[in-house]
Amino acid sequence: MKITVAGVGYVGLSLAVLLAQNHEVTAITTTEEKAEKLNRWISPIRDEEIERFFAEVRAGERELHLHTTTDKAAAYRSAELVVIAAPTNYDDKEHYFDTSAVEDAIEQTLAVNPDVLIVIKSTVPVGYTDSVREKYGIDHVLFSPEFLRESKALYDNLHPSRIVVGAYDHQMEDARMFADLLLEGARAEETRAGQEPQEIRTLIAHPTEAEAIKLFANTYLAVRVSYFNELDTYAQMKGLNTAQIIEGVCLDPRIGGHYNNPSFGYGGYCLPKDTKQLLANYRDVPQMMIEAVVKSNSVRKDFIAEQILNKNPETVGIYRLTMKSNSDNFRASAIQGVMKRILDKGVKVIIYEPTLEAETVFMDCVVENDWKRFSEQCDVILANRFDERLESVKDKVYTRDLYGRD
Ligand SMILES: NC(=O)c1ccc[n+]([C@@H]2O[C@H](COP(=O)([O-])OP(=O)(O)OC[C@H]3O[C@@H](n4cnc5c(N)ncnc54)[C@H](O)[C@@H]3O)[C@@H](O)[C@H]2O)c1
Repeated sequence: MKITVAGVGYVGLSLAVLLAQNHEVTAITTTEEKAEKLNRWISPIRDEEIERFFAEVRAGERELHLHTTTDKAAAYRSAELVVIAAPTNYDDKEHYFDTSAVEDAIEQTLAVNPDVLIVIKSTVPVGYTDSVREKYGIDHVLFSPEFLRESKALYDNLHPSRIVVGAYDHQMEDARMFADLLLEGARAEETRAGQEPQEIRTLIAHPTEAEAIKLFANTYLAVRVSYFNELDTYAQMKGLNTAQIIEGVCLDPRIGGHYNNPSFGYGGYCLPKDTKQLLANYRDVPQMMIEAVVKSNSVRKDFIAEQILNKNPETVGIYRLTMKSNSDNFRASAIQGVMKRILDKGVKVIIYEPTLEAETVFMDCVVENDWKRFSEQCDVILANRFDERLESVKDKVYTRDLYGRD
């Protein structure tokens, strides 16, 4: 099958690679530089599985039918299936997702290939697919929520926790076909690695319900993060041992000992924006929790900043701008919110972030990537996630990372 994937970020690239095991995939990017890199099998993002797959292609040990281009018209024209993985940022003025990049891809597709099946993989507001059907007078559009984690993007598509496709009854054949394409990609790697096939639950739901599934799933995760963070705030204020409380609470199997590591707040590209979009969808619907989970993240960062400021530091060091230790991007990372609060009080902040060039200025703060100079200058070092590197300056470190994960 000839498949075109619009967007080569975490979602688009991992899907393109997954599908390119068995099909001819053209990926569309907006920059020549990225296309050129990908066509030399160099990943523009840090992702262990994508990097492994590309290394195997370069070594002639694996075949992937993937080509990346900036020629959108040609890519859409030749496609038998178009998968859209463009960004949907939350617009703080409109209080809604900016879906213009998804619409761009739909319009460009319809202009050259009006009948091709379109699957939206971007996260969209509840009710969006219906609005697209109406706006463009089309029926051949599905929505399939994506559940991958950044830096484990291809891994999560090779080992999906579930596959959800949003479709109407008369679109069942297309929905099954798309679910089968994803399953086929996961099975291809299992077979290659000699693994037993895992059971992968597939759910075909109404498109609006599928959109809600994505936003409610991410909001649940945000609630859980906020819950353990507020537990930690309480314990810190009352001088209690957070780890003991969490351990005891999580011994209840209904709660479970996973995804319970305190942090400076939930962050990354999706949780902050998806919770806000769900809250926007709740307009006129009674609720307390959805609004609370959005506010809770801000209250947590206020608390963390206050803890730091109470130490009266002259210089605060930021150890990594990223959310997780194995991540290479810092979109909406919680530490930036804490930084902003500290900077607002006029305290000097410097950053250690090896993915940025030394001496770069980020949020008006200098990046100091010389470890010795960085650690000597700081009175306090903030780390959302602890790292071996911090062991030698442990006395200066402020972190709420209890378990070294999540
Ligand atoms: N990152 C995640 O962990 C994750 C997980 C699940 C769902 N999602 C959702 O998937 C979508 C994409 O997320 P991402 O993290 O891959 O984004 P990203 O920013 O990493 O990548 C988006 C890609 O789309 C390209 N692009 C921008 N405008 C375009 C256009 N008009 N036409 C074609 N391509 C265009 C960009 O150049 C970029 O390559 C978002 O809606 C996001 O909410 C993301």
